[in-house]
Amino acid sequence: MPFREAHEDDFQVCLPLLRQLWPALNEATAAAGPADLEALRSVFCRLVKAPDAQVLVVEENRRVIALMDLTFRETLFHRGPTMIIEDLIVDEAHRRQGLGSELVRRAEDIARRWGCRGIELSSDLHRAATRRFWEGRGYKCEAYQFRKIIHP
Ligand SMILES: CC(C)(COP(=O)(O)OP(=O)(O)OC[C@H]1O[C@@H](n2cnc3c(N)ncnc32)[C@H](O)[C@@H]1OP(=O)(O)O)[C@@H](O)C(=O)NCCC(=O)NCCS
Repeated sequence: MPFREAHEDDFQVCLPLLRQLWPALNEATAAAGPADLEALRSVFCRLVKAPDAQVLVVEENRRVIALMDLTFRETLFHRGPTMIIEDLIVDEAHRRQGLGSELVRRAEDIARRWGCRGIELSSDLHRAATRRFWEGRGYKCEAYQFRKIIHP
């Protein structure tokens, strides 16, 4: 599976995948729509250049069919470097063909190269099938994630 690091120009080709993850992004006419999209673009562009992040894409016929972004940070909990799988999205038409599992294996190789002692991720509660996916890959659901939206 040919995968590569994303660059800033990839935002537009990655957008259809991000919309599959967050369908609200499709509501371009909603008040927050365009601003949201601009914020998303600017985070994407920062992440692809950040020394403590990696954004990887899989292409088929010049179309991005999967995206995974990873960040790295020190945690006391793991007593060392920790990798966070921030997002993993496989295009709807390419699911259940092993691509997601392959990307997780790649992520784990990268984590080992970074000397990470653990990998963490969060998954929204409404993604029931996703929970089965992670458990099948050996990830245990051991914590709650609490979230509070604040506006600057
Ligand atoms: C979760 C996701 C990345 C899995 O990618 P994928 O390429 O379909 O995964 P795989 O083909 O490697 O699936 C491996 C196993 O996961 C489980 N699985 C994956 N999708 C599933 C689904 N919709 N329902 C039930 N089990 C599922 C199955 O056990 C599957 O094994 P099998 O079909 O070989 O028995 C993909 O479904 C996706 O992008 N979902 C939407 C976004 C998302 O939820 N991302 C994760 C956010 S944390």
